[in-house]
Amino acid sequence: MTAAPDPFRLDGARALVTGASRGIGKATAVALARAGADLALSARTSTALKETAALVEDAGRTAALVPGDLAEPGVAEEVVDEAATALDGLDVIVHNAGVLPSQEDGTPTLVPLQDSQQADWDHVMAVNLNATAALCRRAHRHLTASSRASVVLMSSLAGVAGTPRMEAYGASKAAQIALARSLAVGWARQGIRVNALCPGWTRTDMTAFAYSLAPLSDWLTAHVPLGRWAEPEEIARVALFLASPAASYLTGQALVLDGGVSVPDGGLAGIPKPPSPFAA
Ligand SMILES: NC(=O)c1ccc[n+]([C@@H]2O[C@H](COP(=O)([O-])OP(=O)(O)OC[C@H]3O[C@@H](n4cnc5c(N)ncnc54)[C@H](OP(=O)(O)O)[C@@H]3O)[C@@H](O)[C@H]2O)c1
Repeated sequence: MTAAPDPFRLDGARALVTGASRGIGKATAVALARAGADLALSARTSTALKETAALVEDAGRTAALVPGDLAEPGVAEEVVDEAATALDGLDVIVHNAGVLPSQEDGTPTLVPLQDSQQADWDHVMAVNLNATAALCRRAHRHLTASSRASVVLMSSLAGVAGTPRMEAYGASKAAQIALARSLAVGWARQGIRVNALCPGWTRTDMTAFAYSLAPLSDWLTAHVPLGRWAEPEEIARVALFLASPAASYLTGQALVLDGGVSVPDGGLAGIPKPPSPFAA
């Protein structure tokens, strides 16, 4: 008797992961490959994508590079089509590429909305929201041909919580959740599941400004009931779950993965809080 396929695996699936050059996207690409998927890897930096590709190949799977700048109109469509051509179709999309408003050197620009620049807002929306819509629009034609289609949009805790000094980011991430819900319902009878994944504070390049500053990091983790930063691999495992047949009845959800930040405890847990670095 042959064993039933493991629903937590993705053997033979064809998956596009954006933002796969580092952080959560790199960890997700590796997790999907170890679960048996072949990968198309996208980001702007081809050298870093090659490092992810080597890890995918170490797991015994194929990796195709489909680089591109998702801030540029038309690039999301090219990335999707190149991925589908390289893999001969698409079953899984993990659209993970995302940005905070940043200076030239990559340092995030965290200022209140009233002090922010419209150009920063536009860039965040171009990458985090417009590219999400363009990518999903283009992917639809490929996903309808799949018998196990799943889309995971990497949103954020910022999409469900107030985010002072990160208003553009929070608005873009909330919009991704709304898009996931609409597409999940619209595409359900076409066999395509769509979910949003909402990580909390995760240790990547994006958050280096915070975890490398002790007062800020201590303040942030004091508000995490689990008391620490997430590692990218902890987010990747849940992205894999959402993409896999194990989540076959799960669609249209915003799965918050934040160590408990969003659970109100009313102070009853008695977790001590250090003085706020934001206090005037
Ligand atoms: N870290 C956290 O605490 C956290 C929490 C919640 C949600 N998230 C979300 O998780 C996702 C991954 O974040 P991360 O923390 O892993 O960030 P990261 O380390 O900064 O990685 C961001 C990824 O997006 C790619 N990217 C950035 N701008 C791009 C563009 N214009 N076109 C194409 N690709 C682009 C980057 O590659 P290149 O630079 O090579 O293009 C990189 O692969 C993001 O959507 C983020 O909003 C992160």
